[in-house]
Amino acid sequence: MADQYATSREDNRPTEIPALRWDEPPEGPVLVLLDQTRLPAEEVELVCTDAAALVEAIRTLAVRGAPLLGVAGAYGVALAAARGFGVDEAAAALASARPTAVNLAYGVRRAQAAHRAVLVAGGDHKQAAEAALAAARALHREDAEASARMAVNGLALLDELLPGGNHRILTHCNTGALVSAGEGTAFAVALAAHRAGRLRRLWVDETRPLLQGARLTAYEAARNAMAYTLLTDNAAGSLFSAGEVDAVLIGADRIAADGSVANKVGSYPLAVLARYHHVPFIVVAPLTTVDPDTPNGASIEVEQRAGHEVTEITAPQVSVAGFEAGGGIPVAPLGTQAYNPAFDVTPPELVTAIVTEEGVVSPVTAEALAELCDRSRQI
Ligand code: MRU
Repeated sequence: MADQYATSREDNRPTEIPALRWDEPPEGPVLVLLDQTRLPAEEVELVCTDAAALVEAIRTLAVRGAPLLGVAGAYGVALAAARGFGVDEAAAALASARPTAVNLAYGVRRAQAAHRAVLVAGGDHKQAAEAALAAARALHREDAEASARMAVNGLALLDELLPGGNHRILTHCNTGALVSAGEGTAFAVALAAHRAGRLRRLWVDETRPLLQGARLTAYEAARNAMAYTLLTDNAAGSLFSAGEVDAVLIGADRIAADGSVANKVGSYPLAVLARYHHVPFIVVAPLTTVDPDTPNGASIEVEQRAGHEVTEITAPQVSVAGFEAGGGIPVAPLGTQAYNPAFDVTPPELVTAIVTEEGVVSPVTAEALAELCDRSRQI
């Protein structure tokens, strides 16, 4: 079950509400999410008391973004275990709530394995639940650390590729503190550039149809006092042709063994534009996003979402102050069919570099990626 608690925001201070937190009130443990469908209008907490509520929150994008989905999935398993629900059923439902971000299944598997290991060793259900929670907490911590290291590695790469600073960076979707236990992936690099005085402008794609750029990245950029400008997705071409983009920085939902990158739909056209205009196209993602079991881009399952997200203006698109959310205002004739893949896949030859917490892969090849993954396993 999910409950919602609204908090009013009366000034422009950075939000006090983390994207996700575990809490243990007297009624029993809960996973508390910052409901991303309500941003930027309101900072509203969504309290999940069971895995089914979390599955719904994942499907509706109340919690979203690859790294955070992994952390949420692990806590979801811990929640089922702590509440005495079937852990394996919960794990199966959580892992399949969205198919593309490999982090989700990874986080679920990790907490489930910790839980199972205790039972196999003769421990009781309470001890197993504690082990699942410890695994979720460890992943949470590691994600924050990975985020900080990606920011360092990404900024060093930007400085190497674009000496002189003053970067004008184009980004897509949302990759900041809302998708991570830390400051995010691609956004964390832009934020590091901003703090170092080397970000001239962050170009923010609005990211149709659910407007993660307009609603969430602009919200995060404003809260960090970054110089940013919002553009419609289809304005990117004119921005490139005007010579206004020095680099593209995006995140990833899954990176296949050959270096193909699945990310929010609209990323691939940016990679094509970047190549044509000789602009670096940089992917920033933790190693948990690399999936050695997915051989290539064609093997990545791309989530197809409901057509009404395209044919109607619905929540969360209209969740802005002073505008009543919901209602599904049609923007196309009734009965119009829509093509609505949530992600697209960029082939490795269009990716200048993949920045991870353990280092940078450039040029992007299957061998270089495998070597980085192997090296990090040995550390
Ligand atoms: O559908 P979403 O909002 O979950 O998609 C998120 C993205 O595509 C992000 O760019 C991706 O998860 C990388 S976030 C570090």
